[in-house]
Amino acid sequence: MKNLFSVLRSDEVNDELLRVIETIVDASKEIAFRVRQGALAGVLGSTQDENIQGETQKHLDIISNQLLKDLLLANSAVAAIASEEEDTVVAGHEAGKYLVAFDPLDGSSNIDINGQIGTIFSIYSALDLIPHHSELQFQQQGQQQVCAGYVFYGPSTLLAITTGKGTRCFTLDSTQGNFLLTADKIQIAADTQEFAINMSNARFWNQAMRAYIDDLVLGETGPRAKRFNMRWNAAMVGDVHRVLTRSGIFLYPSDTRNAKQPAKLRLLYEANPMAMLIENAGGKACSETQRILDIQPQQLHERVAVILGSANEVDECLNYLRR
Ligand code: AHG
Ligand code: MN
Ligand code: MN
Repeated sequence: MKNLFSVLRSDEVNDELLRVIETIVDASKEIAFRVRQGALAGVLGSTQDENIQGETQKHLDIISNQLLKDLLLANSAVAAIASEEEDTVVAGHEAGKYLVAFDPLDGSSNIDINGQIGTIFSIYSALDLIPHHSELQFQQQGQQQVCAGYVFYGPSTLLAITTGKGTRCFTLDSTQGNFLLTADKIQIAADTQEFAINMSNARFWNQAMRAYIDDLVLGETGPRAKRFNMRWNAAMVGDVHRVLTRSGIFLYPSDTRNAKQPAKLRLLYEANPMAMLIENAGGKACSETQRILDIQPQQLHERVAVILGSANEVDECLNYLRR
């Protein structure tokens, strides 16, 4: 089986970018080890603190953030980092060529129940003429990403990654510590009969979104004339991995629960990297109004509605929103 770095080299990934990816992978192996040890490694439970987004931080959020931060800042190819758990951009090396945005631990509510969790990352080239630690560095459209991926700490530890030449999945061989290629050039089927959404928010969605989901639930007796199954893992990494593996549509729409927060998922380190992975596997990823990778970011922690997965089903959903 091919290992991660030989595959990246055959995709002509340059040495510096390779080193950045290697650092993320090294940090994720450390996180994976702690996740496996669970309570024995003291990773369960919450802290007394909140992040800038007002969310209670779990011990594993902090530990994962610190591991990624320490290793990335020690890498001279890294100009700056942005993290869900950091209020502002953290400066790296002035001559560094790359920026890394990450969600160190996705699916935090699953930590204490031994459920699905992951790390999501996004890499950009640092911009000339802008200070390397400026927030403006991260105001690049998602289509500028040079690499995106996630590490999924499930029964197996998996890495899904793209550098723009297809989406691949690697499985961590814990006997050797290498990620080995287990799914090459993934292709998401254009049609699907499976959707993922947190239905408990239905009353806060706009009417068009409610109408779309109502019609999915009606199955073969409704206008869609086919039966749909539902899954919700409460970890975007797990839900997107299922979509990459067996197709589907994943939605986290805008809602009116919180006036200050029109949507839940964050553009820089959740929506954009997942959108790049999905598009590189032949799927689609949109907000309620445009392609996610075309969005011009305005703020580090900005949020966006997300509709992604099987191309025809994403189009079907967008048709309801445009009616
Ligand atoms: P995080 O743990 O990084 O804050 O992200 C959780 C996100 C995402 O992974 C998941 O799809 C969604 O929040 C789950 O939301 P609900 O709690 O509304 O199900
Ligand atoms: Mn997350
Ligand atoms: Mn997180």
